[in-house]
Formats: sequence, C-alpha cells, structure tokens
Amino acid sequence: MNFAVLASGNGSNLQAIINAVKAGKIKGHLVLVVSDRENAFALKRARKAKVPTAFVDPKQFSDRESFDRAVVEKLRQSSVDFVALAGFMRILSSYFINAYRDKILNIHPALLPAFKGSHAIKDALEYGVKVTGLTVHFVDEQVDHGVIILQEAVPIHPTDTLEKLEKTMHSVEHKLYPKAIDLFARGKLEIRGRMVRLR
Ligand code: GAR
Repeated sequence: MNFAVLASGNGSNLQAIINAVKAGKIKGHLVLVVSDRENAFALKRARKAKVPTAFVDPKQFSDRESFDRAVVEKLRQSSVDFVALAGFMRILSSYFINAYRDKILNIHPALLPAFKGSHAIKDALEYGVKVTGLTVHFVDEQVDHGVIILQEAVPIHPTDTLEKLEKTMHSVEHKLYPKAIDLFARGKLEIRGRMVRLR
C-alpha cells in the first residue's frame, strides 16, 4: 500500500517512519510527505530520504475545505491509499475525512480520551496524573476522537520536568506509530464499532 505522511513541524515521527520503512518494519511505500509549512523541518527530512514532498500553502485558500481539496488532489496524484498524520497541526474537514474514511491515522501524546488538544504532554504533567501515554487512532470528524488502534502507557515520575517527559514520550511514540502503520499497511486492522481488532 502507498501512504503519505502529513507533518507541520520537526518531523521526528516522520523520521521514525522513514527509518522503519527503510528497515522493512513497515510493509508499505511512503510515496509523499505533505506540509502546510514551507520551512517545516519534516520537509527537509523527507528530501534527505528522497521521499517526494509537497508544500500546500494555507494562505492560498479561503477556507479549510478548499485547502483540503488541494491536499487530497496531491494524495490522489501520488496514488496514496492511506494517510498518517504526524504532528500535522490542522483540523481536517469532512471533505478530507470522507475522501479517506477509516484510512487516516494520527498519533496523540496522551491516553485518549484524556488530554485532547495540542498541549497534551504539558496538560497531563500539570494535572498531576501518574500515568499518561500515547494513542494511535483513526481520524474522524471530531478532534482526537476516532477509533483507537494502539495505546501505550508512560508513567510520570514526581521528578519529571516537561523536557524529560517529552523525551520519554517521543521515544515511545517513535516505536508505537510505525508499529500501528505497519499493522494498517498489512491489512491487519478490523474496525468493529469503536473497537479495533487485530486480524
Ligand atoms: C508529536 O509528539 C505528536 O504526538 C504530537 O505532535 C508532536 C509532533 O512531533 N501530536 C499532537 O499533539 C496531535 N494533537 P514531530 O513533528 O517531531 O513528529
């Protein structure tokens, strides 16, 4: 299966995915990396790995759906079968979700449904929970809501700083996300209501 990664920032998850594809740990072809930010480090990582890239400039579009239409067109031009969001900081329109229904994966740095939103690691630390973690889920119309594929818990220690916890979280997500992508690419995930079963 062909897949694309959408990323807005540093792209450390993208790097983990690139490495996993190269090592044969993801049985899928990464055919495109799309960003909404021209200077995203993720694009540099993709170019270095010789993965085709596309920058789609949100400023060129009047609303979310027309931006998403342009992205979906690029995905179709590259024969993309499924999509992995990796730090893509935009909410997808229903147009996008419908174009790739049950074929869009996302990684969120908390144990959903706890700590939705874009500061999940900080929020969990400040709340004082003893355990947080990572969630890979399908993307639906609601933010951080879709059916859960994999989760992994990460304990929070009293001495943890935000920097320390972020480092631990990243090291866990860089293993968990490629694993989930590989399961999807190999057709191992079956959705039953809100449950995902491994075939
Ligand atoms: C990752 O930690 C990912 O879990 C998080 O953004 C970071 C992107 O880092 N995603 C979200 O918060 C989604 N709500 P990266 O660009 O280095 O992969």
